[in-house]
Amino acid sequence: MAARIELAGRPIIITGGGSGIGEATAIACAGVGMPVVVAGRRADMLHAVVSRIQESGGEASACPGDVTEADHAAHLIQHCHQAYGQPWAVFANAGRGLDRAAHLTTSQELRDIFEVNFFAAHHLLSEAATHMIRENSGGHLMMCASCVSKFSPPYHAAYAATKAAQDLYCQSMRLELAPAGIHVSTVHPITTTTDFFDVSADVSGQPGTRSGLDHTPKMFRQPPEKVARAIVKCLRKPVPEVWTSNLVRMTAALRNIFPKLMDREMRRMLEPSRIQGEDASRNAH
Ligand SMILES: NC(=O)c1ccc[n+]([C@@H]2O[C@H](COP(=O)([O-])OP(=O)(O)OC[C@H]3O[C@@H](n4cnc5c(N)ncnc54)[C@H](OP(=O)(O)O)[C@@H]3O)[C@@H](O)[C@H]2O)c1
Repeated sequence: MAARIELAGRPIIITGGGSGIGEATAIACAGVGMPVVVAGRRADMLHAVVSRIQESGGEASACPGDVTEADHAAHLIQHCHQAYGQPWAVFANAGRGLDRAAHLTTSQELRDIFEVNFFAAHHLLSEAATHMIRENSGGHLMMCASCVSKFSPPYHAAYAATKAAQDLYCQSMRLELAPAGIHVSTVHPITTTTDFFDVSADVSGQPGTRSGLDHTPKMFRQPPEKVARAIVKCLRKPVPEVWTSNLVRMTAALRNIFPKLMDREMRRMLEPSRIQGEDASRNAH
């Protein structure tokens, strides 16, 4: 059986660390002695997290920026090096949703969401892996995917596609990097009570709908702290996938064998008026 990894003193970089799952994970990691670098566009949110961690005796530092900027990944790793040394773990968590019927999603919208959720996460983990291999340091790379990386609900096709891409990409990375002592894990949260749904509704031009939360029964909602605890557990004892709901995990697995059954369940979420939209020609490349 693999030994438990002592996390104290091992630095971690967390994107989207100023709110929601990233914030809860930063606090949980600092709580077990990991120096934390939090990143995101809103510097005030990052500084609030850093202050909270420092007030409770932990080590944390803010590195504001947009994950889609070309030099952001390199800058983050350099920031961690200067503040705490070589990062042991990197959690590519920054992300957002899009509430739109698949055929009404424009090519530009698709590109934009892939830039944040997939390309930026890929860039950061690739840069970190290159450093870890060069330094022969080992480490742990994580991406915040979603339960919807395994099945796609109506009106979230673009988002689910980014998460499925993360999931598959990390499956190969995990195999390739294992000989270098680098763990790779994906995180698959179910509906988590964060700003995610409000941000998604705003970006999609549907403020106030909170459709994802509205459709989710209470038993399938969780606080971000639950995801954070599962992530710390995975950092201590690496596993390929972090899940916080065995029921949803089983459902996702069964969907592969019985897609018709899953479709029947998902049909409950349909709002027929949502397939009416502007002319499809706006989708031109
Ligand atoms: N909430 C859920 O139900 C749920 C379920 C499954 C998976 N997830 C995933 O969990 C991750 C975290 O989401 P959350 O639920 O914690 O929602 P959240 O509170 O809205 O967090 C998203 C974070 O991403 C950051 N971010 C977004 N775009 C960015 C950009 N271009 N550059 C830098 N940072 C950016 C945001 O910070 P700034 O705005 O300050 O930049 C924010 O801190 C996402 O990847 C999401 O897909 C969420």
